[in-house]
Amino acid sequence: MPAAARTLSHVYPADARLNDAGHLEVGGCDVLEIAREFGTPAYVYAENDIRARAREYLDSFRARTDHFEVIYASKAFPATAAYRLFADEGISCDCASGGELHLALRGGFAPERIYLHGNNKTEAELRYAIERGVGTIVVDSFDEIERLERIAPEGQKVMLRVTPGIKPTTHSYIQTGQVDSKFGFSIEDVPRAIHKMKRLWLCGLHAHIGSQIFELDVYEKLGEILSRVGDWPKLNLGGGLGIAYTHEDQPPAVDAYVDALLKNAPENVTVLCEPGRSLVGNAGVSIYTIGTVKDIPGVRTYIAVDGGMADNLRPMLYGAKYEADVAARFGGDRVVTVAGMHCESGDILIRDVALDDPKVGDILVIPATGAYGHAMANNYNAIPRPPVIFCRDGQARVVVRRETYEDLTARDVL
Ligand code: LLP
Repeated sequence: MPAAARTLSHVYPADARLNDAGHLEVGGCDVLEIAREFGTPAYVYAENDIRARAREYLDSFRARTDHFEVIYASKAFPATAAYRLFADEGISCDCASGGELHLALRGGFAPERIYLHGNNKTEAELRYAIERGVGTIVVDSFDEIERLERIAPEGQKVMLRVTPGIKPTTHSYIQTGQVDSKFGFSIEDVPRAIHKMKRLWLCGLHAHIGSQIFELDVYEKLGEILSRVGDWPKLNLGGGLGIAYTHEDQPPAVDAYVDALLKNAPENVTVLCEPGRSLVGNAGVSIYTIGTVKDIPGVRTYIAVDGGMADNLRPMLYGAKYEADVAARFGGDRVVTVAGMHCESGDILIRDVALDDPKVGDILVIPATGAYGHAMANNYNAIPRPPVIFCRDGQARVVVRRETYEDLTARDVL
């Protein structure tokens, strides 16, 4: 089969294809050219794909109800350009810190469309949010109620985060709805929390039960539990819809997810949801250059790339599985292990992936890195963080530049 005729696995951006040369194109841009122009490693996004996913959520809700709000959980990809894009698409924004709030404002989000989260927001963060007129603060603890009662203006809108006692099937690090959680209030504590609020305007309940979730009954259950806790104008059922990281993964469609969210919500209640990963995860890929091929006969072949656990912490943190391809030669049957360049044996991006005869100098692409890749990038081994490149209609533009060695010393005070 000619390479171009091969359809890409659904883990790749919807706006990606193999061109006539058999190279991966993202948003109409050949990734080999992107690698040449901007270097590797790099995060490469199909901008239209991100927009399309935002519209899919909006359309899906619109087809079912007039009472909804889609909120971008920006921790998944907190780049100013991403905030700008989602603000432009007309959705709201979840910020998990003062830093994310800064980025959201810089990206053009109207403060009233912003929700501030966090299990331990500092007083400085709360003051910053209040000063900038952030629409809603999602209150997470009794201590925070006290703090806000002291510093917030009369009538500050808040929601109450609860842990409904739901444990979805996902990695334990990203389960958040169970009773034994650092987040939020137990359902039993809700009346006491309400009682403590004198000046705050409580407009609803919030729960986020976890992330990278494929089952939908947990969301139906969540709707049921929250609607039993009283009459509220708004219920926020959080985010968490899983995405495909490998071709075997078959996450539910957005329509099915929205059906589950709405199923048990009372009529006239505005249902809010906070997707992060499912808006950006499959819209981005990471590109690397292969620098070494180490064959240990009878044991394993390692190919090492010019990135690793600093630009994608997920394999190491959650044992997350990814796919890969040589960007110029998709497919193949040589099973190798993709190692990073960091000084730890655990710095393995993918164990056992079949590639087409990977060689030194080849560009390797790992799909589905659009969420929590750039977001969790770090400078381990003092390696500058990769740039973020947006591709659309054949035009590639840098929206976050590559870090430099000078950036690494920019905060030094000697
Ligand atoms: N809302 C709240 C309050 C959250 O804490 C999160 C994610 C979301 C929404 C969005 O969830 P999503 O739709 O993206 O699943 N670093 C981990 C994921 C941590 C998610 C934390 N909270 C990972 O790489 O898998």
